[in-house]
Amino acid sequence: MTVRPAPFRPELVAPGTRGRPFVTALAAEELPPGALRRVTFGDLDILLAHTTDGIVAVDDRCPHMSAPLSFGELDGCIVDCPLHMGRFDLRRGEPVRMPTTGGLDPDGRSHPVWSPPGREPKLDPPGKKSEVRKATRVRRFRYYPVRIRDGRIEVALPA
Ligand code: FES
Repeated sequence: MTVRPAPFRPELVAPGTRGRPFVTALAAEELPPGALRRVTFGDLDILLAHTTDGIVAVDDRCPHMSAPLSFGELDGCIVDCPLHMGRFDLRRGEPVRMPTTGGLDPDGRSHPVWSPPGREPKLDPPGKKSEVRKATRVRRFRYYPVRIRDGRIEVALPA
């Protein structure tokens, strides 16, 4: 099995990681295809995902409300968040299914609260909580550069 880093959009690199030294995150054998793992450096939690494109390292925080995605499921390059059922594409750094709470997508488009198919649209009760949900924007992922050396997955951490 060849383990390789997955390509990512250069504009989504985590700030402060360019040119930084790489540090060992995990033995490659501990991240088989389809696996998600959290690795922690100080107060920085990183999600390692073995996608069909290769190894991805992003913050282990859902781009919606920061739930740890390492508790979710990986399907190809799509990771499911266990908290509000959002689905995110680790290849593009974009949502493929908005969280059930609704809110704003990365481009600022507004999405209503999710309702089951065939049911009346769910009404969001008025109040501050509802306003906060509507104003919560899904972010794009930030990617940590990855390399594979001597059977180890290494990541570049910010300064
Ligand atoms: S925290 Fe992940 S979908 Fe809401």
